[in-house]
Amino acid sequence: MKIAIYPGSFDPVTNGHIDIIFRASAMVDKLIIGVLSNVKKQPLLTVEERIALLEATTHKYLKNVEVEAFSGLLVDFAAKKNASIIVRGLRAMSDFEYELQMAQTNRNLNKNIETIFLATNVHYSFLSSSVVKEIAMFGGDINSLVPPVVEEYLKTKFM
Ligand code: PNS
Repeated sequence: MKIAIYPGSFDPVTNGHIDIIFRASAMVDKLIIGVLSNVKKQPLLTVEERIALLEATTHKYLKNVEVEAFSGLLVDFAAKKNASIIVRGLRAMSDFEYELQMAQTNRNLNKNIETIFLATNVHYSFLSSSVVKEIAMFGGDINSLVPPVVEEYLKTKFM
């Protein structure tokens, strides 16, 4: 059984993440979305809120996707879940240096786990959770950037 982890902060999940989740889930038997609970920066949403929004946007459509919080090292979480693949989305060259370092670090920590990169849909190459939060904070339109449930939820946060 091929199991992959798609890790991230997901503060909040965006349409860019959703695109990667749909494509990655079609490549494996099980995709576990790993939500980092000990985020370095102060997150807007609690880990429970981030998980609930991910579940609301994926569970109905994708039967082989699970969402789970993790803390500590990603490779340890992956090993505990019997996952042999880490999936990351690449938006632009600016992502590449950090992603390469992370993939090489993880490979150094555990040789049994491979990182694969999916090229982000060109429509979302500018998109990040930070951009979404900034637009939402100032009352801008995030309708095309996040799933409807996330849009509604962020409204309650900034009203
Ligand atoms: O969506 P993000 O915030 O870019 O995701 C970053 C994430 C969660 C993948 C990364 O911070 C992570 O794996 N953290 C866990 C700690 C870890 O394993 N560090 C060693 C690899 S650099």
